[in-house]
Amino acid sequence: MNRFDGKVAVVTGGVQGIGRGIALRLAAEGAAVVVGDLQDDDTTVREIVDGGGRAAHVVMDVRRPGDWKRLVDEAVGGFGGVHALGNVAGVTNTLGPDNVVDLDEAGWDHVVDTDLKGVWLGMQAVIPRMLDGGGGAILNIGSMAALKGLENLAAYSAAKGGVVSLTQQVAMEYSPRGIRVNCICPGTIDTPILAGITESMRENFVAAHLIPRLGTPADIAAAAAFLLSEDASFLTGEVLPVDGGWNAKGSAG
Ligand SMILES: NC(=O)c1ccc[n+]([C@@H]2O[C@H](COP(=O)([O-])OP(=O)(O)OC[C@H]3O[C@@H](n4cnc5c(N)ncnc54)[C@H](O)[C@@H]3O)[C@@H](O)[C@H]2O)c1
Repeated sequence: MNRFDGKVAVVTGGVQGIGRGIALRLAAEGAAVVVGDLQDDDTTVREIVDGGGRAAHVVMDVRRPGDWKRLVDEAVGGFGGVHALGNVAGVTNTLGPDNVVDLDEAGWDHVVDTDLKGVWLGMQAVIPRMLDGGGGAILNIGSMAALKGLENLAAYSAAKGGVVSLTQQVAMEYSPRGIRVNCICPGTIDTPILAGITESMRENFVAAHLIPRLGTPADIAAAAAFLLSEDASFLTGEVLPVDGGWNAKGSAG
């Protein structure tokens, strides 16, 4: 018996990186997975289907309520409901600097609309359908930038801090009605979001972890599958760093 047999999961950002890792893991454990992503690339979904699973790809933008409606309609119409939501899609400021002074309004909006508003819109779209089906579980992806001051991540930190707070707030209102809501704050995970970093930045990221390597999408997916499964049935409103010990590390040495 797989933990997600008979369940339907919606995962944003599932074309690559952490979202892809979570989509593949949930499918491997029996879920039908609906991937939502800006990119028109169904590689993840084809891999699931070729392996005997059930999955669908929806090209969508997490910043648009109408796109969320199409995504949820695909899950409900195609597979019969939504039991799990992974709000994974996210960006750093690729439009310019993310220092509080140098950041411009377009950069702020790009990051906050995707990373925070997108998470709100996702929960807004999915929760009514979860209530129809008797409950569910939501996982939001935060960041260590929500918990610590990190360089050149002003808008990103604000957005991810908002994700942590929103997770707790929504858990408070909906856990009594059968919907658990949790958040993972990943350490530095080796995904395409790191494209363009220098070798010395990579070494610094590794050195921040007590476990001396970058994380992998599979590391996050293992924790995500736990939090979204019934194994975590008494766990809600929590913020879990999956970070190779970065959060535990003292500042000196
Ligand atoms: N990689 C890390 O070190 C790290 C650390 C902490 C938190 N995170 C967070 O984890 C999440 C995934 O990061 P990743 O490293 O896998 O990134 P990534 O860039 O590899 O993948 C992000 C995915 O989200 C999609 N996406 C971006 N904007 C979108 C939008 N508006 N609508 C729909 N899809 C959109 C992209 O097309 C892509 O497939 C993000 O929320 C990120 O902030 C990553």
